[in-house]
Amino acid sequence: MNPKRVLVAHGGKHGATAGIADEIGRTLRDDGFDAVVAPADTVTDVGDYDGVVLGGALYAGRWDGKARRCARRNADQLSRRPVWLFSSGPVDSSAEQHDIPPVPGVARRMTSLGAREHITFGGAVTAETPGRIARSTVRHGKGGDFRDPARIRAWAHHIGSELGAAR
Ligand SMILES: Cc1cc2nc3c(=O)[nH]c(=O)nc-3n(C[C@H](O)[C@H](O)[C@H](O)COP(=O)(O)O)c2cc1C
Repeated sequence: MNPKRVLVAHGGKHGATAGIADEIGRTLRDDGFDAVVAPADTVTDVGDYDGVVLGGALYAGRWDGKARRCARRNADQLSRRPVWLFSSGPVDSSAEQHDIPPVPGVARRMTSLGAREHITFGGAVTAETPGRIARSTVRHGKGGDFRDPARIRAWAHHIGSELGAAR
């Protein structure tokens, strides 16, 4: 039997969310899935996938527009297959300390898509992140990379076990 196909789509601005998606994709491949990682703005059809993971970076309390538009554009097909959502956000260790619920727009999207789960991962703002706010954050000692690979991999394994690896 062919491996199940999973799409891991990511919408962000500076690469932190893409990095989380890459880690999820790698883990799912290790678990025997045919996992494809793609920027959310390139996703126009999810009909070939047995499951979809869609992640968005949080900016001012909302998902990045690329993730929002991906969810909207593919809503019909997404609502007919298993979907997991994640957010990449807090630039501190809060996401490791307790579950952070989805922001209201993402919570509404979860309901409309019938998404199985949402998780918030720590994000990253570093000296390499462009932009005035990012620079100021780093200058005030508040930046950092708070992505936790072990937590990301654990969630990806969990998705894999829900989808059931069919080799
Ligand atoms: C201008 C700006 C606004 C942000 N707003 C939020 C926010 O509202 N909530 C949050 O949890 N994180 C916020 N963050 C942190 C980003 O979500 C985090 O850095 C994320 O991992 C960035 O992902 P990306 O590199 O894929 O764009 C903000 C960061 C910046 C630079």
